[in-house]
Amino acid sequence: MSQHAERLARELAGIETFLRQETERLPELVRPVAAHVLDAGGKRFRPMLTVLFARLLGHASDDVFPLAASLEFLHSATLLHDDILDGASLRRGKAAAHVVFSRTETILAGDALLALSNRLVADYGIPRMVAMLSEAVLRTVVGEIEEIAACRELDLDEAGYLSIITGKTAFLIQAAAGVGALLARAPDETVTRAEEFGLNMGIAFQLVDDALDYTSPPEVSGKPAGSDLREGKLTLPLLGYLGSLPADGRADLLARIKEKSLSDAEIEAVVAAIRADGHADATRERAAQYVAQAERCLDGLPAGWAAEVLRESLRYVLARQK
Ligand code: IPE
Ligand code: IPE
Ligand code: MG
Ligand code: MG
Repeated sequence: MSQHAERLARELAGIETFLRQETERLPELVRPVAAHVLDAGGKRFRPMLTVLFARLLGHASDDVFPLAASLEFLHSATLLHDDILDGASLRRGKAAAHVVFSRTETILAGDALLALSNRLVADYGIPRMVAMLSEAVLRTVVGEIEEIAACRELDLDEAGYLSIITGKTAFLIQAAAGVGALLARAPDETVTRAEEFGLNMGIAFQLVDDALDYTSPPEVSGKPAGSDLREGKLTLPLLGYLGSLPADGRADLLARIKEKSLSDAEIEAVVAAIRADGHADATRERAAQYVAQAERCLDGLPAGWAAEVLRESLRYVLARQK
């Protein structure tokens, strides 16, 4: 437990109150879908990062909460769409929105949340903030498309994989930190440092997520087990495993993954082998390198409770089980 738990609880309450308030004000046809994904919980990792960077850089006002909430709305929009793209049926421990509601409603609710997020950010009247978030959304979409394209091809190297995860996950986390610094009117060099922190943390975050896909049971993760393998995604643990196989075995498994013809028992066997051979652990070790790089970005930034929590959150990214 963080020694700053009380402070964090207060910030989190500010985020939650604003999220609820804005969700209730959504048009009637969008509200239930948005409420479904937002009420299911979630770690609120991105909005917290925005608040922490604003506080770290001296911005004490409660006016940070709409900005922070806009990151969670944005993130939730990407989750609504992502579960359709991935055909995933479980999200945050509950049935995914597109399973409960129609696909069209879910797609449009995602668009509505994206628009709401834009409006909340535009209301600050800081053009750079709008530009930073729009750029992040654009890059997120490109990452998702790159991943879909890679699923059709027969090979992916580590550089290609890193480009995908940086796109689909890290750029939004980079912007979460960056806009917090912009709200605090920090100098350019500080904003860049905040962004670099977020980028490295974001890459580590997705690396750990990809390891958890092979190690965390659905009761804990709130997401389907072994889903990356099922979805034909060549994440780092699987790339490591494929690389350890003899050439013909590798080509055969790769083809079966691409055709999505593996049986449940075969999927379980590959998941077990990946875990036993240490490929999930190796992925976490890669994540630790990015965490170390993120930590270096904090040097030269102000000390204080927010800096301590940011350091703790880096350790949390590596240790998290969900
Ligand atoms: C899920 O993000 C999507 C990824 C980028 C891995 P989170 O792990 O932050 O999900 P929630 O918000 O806590 O549900
Ligand atoms: C997460 O992608 C990134 C976005 C939602 C944009 P994944 O598909 O890897 O994440 P999970 O496993 O569904 O949370
Ligand atoms: Mg997914
Ligand atoms: Mg996806």
